[in-house]
Amino acid sequence: MAKVLIVDDDLDILDLLRLVMTRSGHEALTSMTGKEALGVVAEAKPDVAFLDMRLKNSSGLDLLSDIKRLYPETAVIIMTGYQDMGTAIKAMQGGAFDYVTKPLDTAHLINLVEKVLETRKAESSSVQQSSWQGKKEIIGKSKVMEEIYKLIGVASQNKTTVLIQGETGTGKELMARAIHYYSPQKEKPFIAVNCSALAETLLESELFGHEKGSFTGAIQRHKGKFELANGGTIFLDEIGDIPQIVQAKLLRVLQEREFERVGGEEALRVDVRVIAATNRDIPKLVAEGRFREDLFYRLKVITIDIPPLRERREDIPLLVDYCIGKANSEAHKEIKAVAPDVMNIFLRYDWKGNIRELENVVYRGVLMARGNVILKEHIPELDLSPVPAKSGSVDFIRSLDDIEKEAIEKTLRFTNWNKSKACELLKIPRPRLDRKIKKYGLKRQA
Ligand SMILES: Nc1ncnc2c1ncn2[C@@H]1O[C@H](COP(=O)(O)OP(=O)(O)OP(=O)(O)O)[C@@H](O)[C@H]1O
Ligand SMILES: [Mg+2]
Repeated sequence: MAKVLIVDDDLDILDLLRLVMTRSGHEALTSMTGKEALGVVAEAKPDVAFLDMRLKNSSGLDLLSDIKRLYPETAVIIMTGYQDMGTAIKAMQGGAFDYVTKPLDTAHLINLVEKVLETRKAESSSVQQSSWQGKKEIIGKSKVMEEIYKLIGVASQNKTTVLIQGETGTGKELMARAIHYYSPQKEKPFIAVNCSALAETLLESELFGHEKGSFTGAIQRHKGKFELANGGTIFLDEIGDIPQIVQAKLLRVLQEREFERVGGEEALRVDVRVIAATNRDIPKLVAEGRFREDLFYRLKVITIDIPPLRERREDIPLLVDYCIGKANSEAHKEIKAVAPDVMNIFLRYDWKGNIRELENVVYRGVLMARGNVILKEHIPELDLSPVPAKSGSVDFIRSLDDIEKEAIEKTLRFTNWNKSKACELLKIPRPRLDRKIKKYGLKRQA
């Protein structure tokens, strides 16, 4: 049994959750204001507190930090009426146990209470007020993105290594920057290295530096990126491509925080958080003996898998808006939207280049548009042929003709081409069925 505090200024929610909690054998306490809630926490020391994000006179985030100060053992679960990256990240950073969105899934809430009881990890984390300085926003309200925001929140507060995996253009670098800019080390350097762009020796010296004369062309001592990133974050992009010799050296940095410059003797110590990214299938590279397994395990302490855009199509309209705004300010235009048929194409397109491709298509549309709406003629011909089977949440978008054809075909097969039976089932008169059979060129299969 857990002692559960529910804080919301909506009486209906209080009643609902009280009922749900008591029915599953928990003790429920309720408050309508932050002030009252703090009193209850001090006195009753609840195991779990569900906090509404928006209370009348205080914000859920403030209350979260007050509770954490007052009684850190209470596991706080933030509830919010809309999904929002900023609050999800801040809630996790502020030490929330989890973050849920309304409408509430009561079964899930009960699971969370059970989870709190199971773990009972008394984590008292201090609130870190950091702001997203990269000026770039991460757009997306899909469930998967919400999970990613939570991971960014957790990762930013722990200096562990993070491995970000995703197809090209899905936002790997953007997420890496977000982790850094939300971290306590945000004032320290964030240094990105593209590991696939350099030859083996150059990459080694780029990362770890070299001593004067260590190889032809090394005319003076050179500091590596690890030294330059000291105290901050190094972002190793395209990690799947790094050669064996660099893999070994990297493993040592991760294990012992130590390395030598190329051609150097002195062991240098650094305090750098490593975030690695790849669009390659690392387990496969491991199986092929091209990537060290021990390094792989060291890298993936926290793994963030960013799904391709075609698997979270519900985010496309938001991203289109965002990209239009961005392109407007770059190109000094005032485009308002894309035409509905253009949006339709966007929703069905495969986006192999993911968000980068979408950005480019929209940018081009913004430049080409004459009025304030992007029309079909302003975007390049996008290849719509290979609409994949698992096309996410909009695979219901098909032409009505398509659906009609399929319904008639299936019904005829079901009635073994007994047309009057099919007419009955389809609720259409016989001549109409005959017309449709002709229109769609349907034939009885032998
Ligand atoms: N969720 C998002 N919201 C807004 N912009 C995004 C989002 N994801 C990616 N972008 C934008 O898409 C572009 C590509 O992102 P990024 O460079 O981070 O991708 P990547 O995964 O590192 O790609 P690659 O594998 O090709 O290096 C950037 O301009 C980035 O700002
Ligand atoms: Mg990248």
